[in-house]
Amino acid sequence: MYVCQTCLIFAAQNETRFFQYNNLMKGIILAGGSATRLYPLSKAISKQIMPVYDKPMIYYPLSTLMLAGIREVLIISTPRDLPMFRELLGDGSRLGMRLEYKVQLVPNGLAQAFVLGADFLQGEPGCLILGDNLFYGQNFTNMLQTAVSMIEGSDQRGACIFGYEVSDPRAYGVVEFDADGKVLSLEEKPEHPKSRYAVPGLYFYDHTVCDKAAALQPSARGEYEITDLNRLYLNEGTLHVQLFGRGFAWLDTGNCDSLLDAGNFVATIQNRQGMYVACIEEIAWRNGWITTDQLLTLGKEMKTRYGAYLEQLAQR
Ligand code: G1P
Repeated sequence: MYVCQTCLIFAAQNETRFFQYNNLMKGIILAGGSATRLYPLSKAISKQIMPVYDKPMIYYPLSTLMLAGIREVLIISTPRDLPMFRELLGDGSRLGMRLEYKVQLVPNGLAQAFVLGADFLQGEPGCLILGDNLFYGQNFTNMLQTAVSMIEGSDQRGACIFGYEVSDPRAYGVVEFDADGKVLSLEEKPEHPKSRYAVPGLYFYDHTVCDKAAALQPSARGEYEITDLNRLYLNEGTLHVQLFGRGFAWLDTGNCDSLLDAGNFVATIQNRQGMYVACIEEIAWRNGWITTDQLLTLGKEMKTRYGAYLEQLAQR
């Protein structure tokens, strides 16, 4: 049995169920932007509503927040696309969650999520995930819950971000370490990266995040950079970085090839193991947020393999 500050995890009958207690942390999914690199695919619809194999892309970041035990989530998107997310996910009650929605009129930087989301967070800690970031791998839930427990307590301060080794980090935020693993620097899309560690679009922050975000100045490219926000925590000495190992998948969906690769990856895992990736109804059930009867009802509503999977879980 493993016990951490906010959760109790135990294995029963080959299934792991997660129970979260008193999570203060709220989540934000940033699902805006114009995704011009996917044109003409994304000309008329949001990238984050597109399929990654058998489910809309936003299921993946939403499932990540749910695995972190986060039950209250704000979805930020464009005036055009927000109604579609609302139609897809509603108020969240069917998942035992609370979902809210907010329009971002101008896509002017990731850190703006904490300016737009200040009313929603109401001074609580917040986790931001980008709507097109897909994570999959063993021990992920433990890493998420470690991140939450590091900064959730009222006396705890700081931020927790992640590092992932890539062959070409120039398109990302890049984190540099010294020999002892201490963070030396953070740079946004450097031409000459100081390390191969990219910073994925998943960030956990303490309750000071909205004030910090509001005080940021736009960068040379006119954006409120998430890397500048992270650097404030680094300078304070309260930035934690957890590294994903080489067996972990952080998938990109930036262009047509990587979108197809992500779909094929999910299909491969699901069809081989018979267990679904980013199945939000399953996670809600395993978290104890919905009952087995509710899961069964959700399954019966979908006359697909996805629906049958939910029914089979409920009847097991
Ligand atoms: C953003 C961030 C970057 C981060 C990346 C992760 O970049 O600015 O620091 O590494 O997300 O996906 P974008 O790809 O939105 O330009």
